[in-house]
Amino acid sequence: HTYVVIMAGGVGTRFWPFSRSNYPKQFHDVLGTGRTLLQQTADRFDGICPPENIFIVTSDKYRELCKQQLPQLSYDQILCEPIARNTAPCIAYACYKIAQRDPEANVVVAPADHIILKQEEFQRTIQTALDATRGQDILVTLGIQPSRPDTGYGYIQYVPDTDSPIKKVKTFTEKPHLELAQQFIESGEFVWNAGIFVWNAQAIIKAFEDHLPEVAEIFAEGKDVYYSDQEQPFVDKAYSHCKSISIDNGVMERADNVHVVLSDFGWSDLGTWKSLYEVSTKNDDLNVIDGHIMLYDTRNCIIKTPKDRLVVVNGLDGFIVAEYDNVLMICRKEEEQKVKAFVADAKERG
Ligand code: GDD
Ligand code: MG
Repeated sequence: HTYVVIMAGGVGTRFWPFSRSNYPKQFHDVLGTGRTLLQQTADRFDGICPPENIFIVTSDKYRELCKQQLPQLSYDQILCEPIARNTAPCIAYACYKIAQRDPEANVVVAPADHIILKQEEFQRTIQTALDATRGQDILVTLGIQPSRPDTGYGYIQYVPDTDSPIKKVKTFTEKPHLELAQQFIESGEFVWNAGIFVWNAQAIIKAFEDHLPEVAEIFAEGKDVYYSDQEQPFVDKAYSHCKSISIDNGVMERADNVHVVLSDFGWSDLGTWKSLYEVSTKNDDLNVIDGHIMLYDTRNCIIKTPKDRLVVVNGLDGFIVAEYDNVLMICRKEEEQKVKAFVADAKERG
């Protein structure tokens, strides 16, 4: 009864120009391991669930990319969204569909764009969460020891008073502002939400009914068409009147049956250039380079350019130099939050 839902519909704007709307980061071999982030995500569940129980939820634009990268999956396992509505509808669609076939399903929901270094520890943690959720009306998320007041994550405050690896959650705060994130970190009572969730299908359906009834209603209506040729037309229509909201804001912040498994499996959300810089191997001058590159007097940079052209860099410190397809971006590493604005401006220019 174990299923895995991989969320792979994000565009990864902060990773521009590498991550593009026609080829987002989850479809890239970001670390140069020979496997893309999506492939690594699927590989991670080897032995946890059979390949036929893995579902990808993505934009219909990426259907072929998913199929090419994961040829072991059938097209039926690639759930296509006509428009992006953030993670709550994505999870609702997959979980209602899975519950239709297997009411006793136990589901792991995982983002397609993370790095996890300790595979065995990851599987052990997932197994703990799966055991805890079987037949229980609880929502489980995985918690990571935070290292900085990053405002891009969800923060989980838990009740520390048991020896059990799974703790009751007191509060869940999605993407707090900086001062709040700093307070959270200083208090020592919080972990980051890894964005990987485990629950049984009935528990998440109940949570949707309680906290996002309008979303619940939309996807419950599909029960007669899932797995039929009526499914896609139904879904296309459903999304057009479904609101856009994340599972974190829509469900996790509101529910009172959330639990967290404290985890340590070398997790990193490859959300930004800086996060890629941090997890990558550096040379003696602390540069991360990927491409055909000659460096002089250059430090603390991340340089990622196409291999078929020579790039010569002299005298840079703390920069991102990234070229992909028809875009070259050069930006101070400390100012990478501006990338979103670059993308918007570039779009305007066409
Ligand atoms: N199918 C589909 N449709 N997938 C989506 C959509 C959508 O509309 N939007 C996002 N995704 C996918 C992304 O590709 C990614 O794999 C995952 O869902 C999470 O979305 P993000 O947009 O990357 O979320 P986030 O990083 O801002 O925040 C989430 O992850 C953090 C940890 O990385 C939250 O869960 C935070 O609480 C958490 O700390
Ligand atoms: Mg993310």
